[in-house]
Amino acid sequence: MIGGTGLENLTLKNYYPEVVETPYGKVQVDLGILGESRESIVFMSRHGKTHATPPHLVNYRANIWALKKLGVTKILATAAVGSLSTRYKLGDLVLVDQFLDFTKSRPQTFYEGGDSGVLHVDMTEPYCHSVQKDIYQAAENIGVAIRDGATYVCTEGPRFETPAEIKMYQMLGGELVGMTSVPEVVLAKELGMCYATIAMVTNEAAGIADHPLTHAEVLESMKMMGKTVARLVEETFLT
Ligand code: HPA
Repeated sequence: MIGGTGLENLTLKNYYPEVVETPYGKVQVDLGILGESRESIVFMSRHGKTHATPPHLVNYRANIWALKKLGVTKILATAAVGSLSTRYKLGDLVLVDQFLDFTKSRPQTFYEGGDSGVLHVDMTEPYCHSVQKDIYQAAENIGVAIRDGATYVCTEGPRFETPAEIKMYQMLGGELVGMTSVPEVVLAKELGMCYATIAMVTNEAAGIADHPLTHAEVLESMKMMGKTVARLVEETFLT
C-alpha cells in the first residue's frame, strides 16, 4: 500500500517500522496487519509521515525497489487529484486507467543502460486489472461508490496548473490531474508488480473552480474522504 496525501498515517495493527536499503537510498516503511485482515502488508507513505517530501522530490525508484525487495507483488496506491471533467466530482473515488505524462525532472526507469541494461516496458495497460477488480469487489461489499476508466494527467508540480494548461489537458483527453502517478506506475511495471491507484477527487482543477486552488483545500477534502478510503483499503486487503 502506498498512501498518498491524506493517508500518511493509516494505522496498521501490530506494525513495526523497518528501514529498507536500496541502490537508490534508504526507505522507511511499516510492516503489519491492516484492520481485521490476516494478510501482512507493507505500508509506505509516499510523502513521508509528515508530508515533508513534495511530489517532484519523492524517491520513486527507492520506494518501488524497496517494495520489490520486501516481496510485494501487488500495490494499491492512493492519490489526491483535481477533476478536469464533469464526469468526476469532488469526493468521487476513481480507478485510473491511463495516464498522460507531463513530468519533467524525474528518473523514470531502473534500466539506465550499461550494466542495468535497456528496457522499453509495455504501457498498453499501465494499471493492473486484478487489483482493480479487488478494489471494486471491496467497494461493493461496503457500499462505497467507485468509478473507473479515468485518464490521469501527471504534472511535475509542486505548483498547481494554470487554467490554460488545464484547458490543454482537457483537449488531450485528460480527466484527472495529479502529481505522483508517474513514474510510480511505470517503475512498478518495470519490476513486474501489479499496481492500481484509487484517485480521490479533492478539487475542481484550476480555472474550473471559481476560486484559486490551495493545498489547504486539498487537505480539507482529504479529511472528508480519508475514513472512507481507509475503510475501502482495509476491505480490499480482506477481499
Ligand atoms: N492539480 C494537481 N495535483 C493535484 C490537484 C490538482 O488540482 N489536486 C490534488 N492534487
